[in-house]
Amino acid sequence: MSSFGSCTVVVGCQWGDEGKGKIVDVLAEDVDIVARYQGGANAGHTVHVDDDEFILHQIPSGILHEGRRCLLGNGVVLDILQFFEEYDKLAERGIDLAGRVGVSRRAHLLMPYHRVMDRAVESAADVKIGTTGRGIGPAYEDKAGRRGVRVADLGNPERLERRIAVSLERVQQRLEGLGAEAGQDLQSAMDQALALGDRLLEISVDTGPEISAALAAGKRVLMEGAQGTVLDLDHGTYPFVTSSNTTAAGAAIGTGIGPTAIDDVVGVVKAYITRVGEGPLPTGFDAEMDERMRELGGEFGATTGRPRRCGWFDAVISRFAAQVNGLTGLAVTKLDVLDTLPEIQVATGYRMPDGSVVTDFPADTWSLGQVEPVFETHPGWGAPTTEARSLDDLPKNARAYLDRIEELTETPIRWVSVGTRRSQIIQV
Ligand code: IMP
Repeated sequence: MSSFGSCTVVVGCQWGDEGKGKIVDVLAEDVDIVARYQGGANAGHTVHVDDDEFILHQIPSGILHEGRRCLLGNGVVLDILQFFEEYDKLAERGIDLAGRVGVSRRAHLLMPYHRVMDRAVESAADVKIGTTGRGIGPAYEDKAGRRGVRVADLGNPERLERRIAVSLERVQQRLEGLGAEAGQDLQSAMDQALALGDRLLEISVDTGPEISAALAAGKRVLMEGAQGTVLDLDHGTYPFVTSSNTTAAGAAIGTGIGPTAIDDVVGVVKAYITRVGEGPLPTGFDAEMDERMRELGGEFGATTGRPRRCGWFDAVISRFAAQVNGLTGLAVTKLDVLDTLPEIQVATGYRMPDGSVVTDFPADTWSLGQVEPVFETHPGWGAPTTEARSLDDLPKNARAYLDRIEELTETPIRWVSVGTRRSQIIQV
């Protein structure tokens, strides 16, 4: 073993739901620590272990591998109620969690009033974002507004109470302005959440020093991104984004390590694309094809159950993702979902309303709603890929399709997932 460990970031390269959970689960086999660095219970990472399905919202998917340490970094907004519900459910299902989960003392607490605000703001908004309703935006607003409460504050109940009282007052005022109400169970949800404070403190840690020490000791670390590149607060389709930095650089900020500690960034793309929530989807299908792909791919939200909109693979986005994340490798998921299609399209550029064609992802989100994708058409392969375990096992057309994705994304493909099971993976 080398004297320095390795740090790999797994990042979604579309609008989330790329199948990161499956890739993290596969990579977690060879690591010591798995850490989440942003987001909260808006994420829903689905992992299949034998015949069991696990949907993880806050605890890293690495928890399903015995002995791996799982951390939630400072960049996460932690919903304590949901966190312990998930924790206890995993324990009930026989997962040994003792000493395995750590939460950053710098992580912000997502309080029940953040959920109330999320829903109130969304229902009053002219431009709806289609949030998951998990309180993510309001929690990050409090963080950036320097009003938030952090895990470390749980150690000082008096200060915590004062800070919460200030936030709560502001929430009440804003709710009044929106003509909304907090609902009767807010106080009891707050009491329940705070009653879990000591339990959370017991597993609270400083993630930066812990990860840095682990790397210095030769350990291997995996950073598990949530959502995807074009949902990044800075680089995504603003304002139709989430409120955190989902891109790879967020892994350093969101756990407390230096950016030079990261040596590998694996981007996950689905072999087509999906989007849930509002905002443009340039390569989106017509209604009939949309329905068909949703059924073929089981494209319903893991957190909200909402139907996902589906479309063709968008290489403008994947190339942008390669640049902004500094990808060193690509994992293509759900290739098998395309097995029965006679023809498959890939967008290589966008025709703008003035007739010009762009291949760089435009910053102006509103123009994205008006572009016409420039497609190239690939023949389908009409054969199952689910049993393939090497590239050689794939039909010729499936390989050609992957080669083209690799070429357009300018990133080598390192994994191809051909089904939900752990074993259904091709390592290149
Ligand atoms: P929020 O993160 O709940 O504020 O939602 C903001 C946007 O991000 C909405 O379009 C959501 O549908 C989307 N979003 C948030 N989390 C996920 C996810 O895990 N997968 C896919 N989309 C997500």
